[in-house]
Amino acid sequence: MGILEVKGINKRFGGLQALGDVNLSVAENTVHAIIGPNGAGKSTLLNVLVGKLIPDSGSVMFDGQSVLGRKPHEINQMGISRVFQTPEIFSDLSVFENVLIPCFAKRDGSFRMHAIESVFSEKAIHQQAEEILADVNMLEKRHMIASSLSRGDKRRLEMAMCLVQDPRLLLLDEPTAGMARADTENTINLLKEIRTKRGITMAIIEHDMNVVFSLAERITVLAQGTPLVEDTPDNIKGHPKVREAYLGEAQV
Ligand SMILES: Nc1ncnc2c1ncn2[C@@H]1O[C@H](COP(=O)(O)OP(=O)(O)O)[C@@H](O)[C@H]1O
Ligand SMILES: [Mg+2]
Repeated sequence: MGILEVKGINKRFGGLQALGDVNLSVAENTVHAIIGPNGAGKSTLLNVLVGKLIPDSGSVMFDGQSVLGRKPHEINQMGISRVFQTPEIFSDLSVFENVLIPCFAKRDGSFRMHAIESVFSEKAIHQQAEEILADVNMLEKRHMIASSLSRGDKRRLEMAMCLVQDPRLLLLDEPTAGMARADTENTINLLKEIRTKRGITMAIIEHDMNVVFSLAERITVLAQGTPLVEDTPDNIKGHPKVREAYLGEAQV
């Protein structure tokens, strides 16, 4: 049994079957990549996992508890955090303030003023936020306003905002999308460090095969909303079905 068990998920948008009978098992303490061409259903699947979309049928269990029907912040409180395709940060706040925000969102599930004030003044939470910022090499930039950060640093900040919630499962939607080569390398190294230091299970959607093959231990290939193959990176490389699914897209 994996920490995340997805069974028989179907999701239609009008006449389009975005997900068709998706089964997926993510083992605890592994990095599991979900790859597939554009429109394969990867983001739709992630949206189901974090409660942003309700599937037409199927089940999603996290650590033995059903995820479906719960609100996004409840799923977050269960221990699932997500890094979005475009970093979701508070542009007008400092790096440090951005990291504090998920602390009260997790504790209280709301943005009530008393919760905000208590978290912003708590020493232990400040220490935790600083430790996480150090982990993602952003401590020196803690007073910078988030909008002034580079794309790579915004990604680091978003990662810190997830880590401060102490997740057991981190979902990453194309964490290197639109990054220059150097930032991509930095992100790969950052994820490896997080993995080693914190042992967080990760499910990662990614287009860049260099990222996938340097991070993942298991890979599921989605094509037209349905898993085509699930295997180790070595077995996925050069798999005829994978080549077929990627024809004219990525080089596998
Ligand atoms: N909210 C929506 N309404 C209608 N169609 C959608 C919606 N979201 C996604 N789709 C369609 O579902 C399919 C899968 O999309 P998506 O999950 O975004 O693919 P991927 O992330 O693999 O590129 C695509 O054909 C897309 O156009
Ligand atoms: Mg997508």
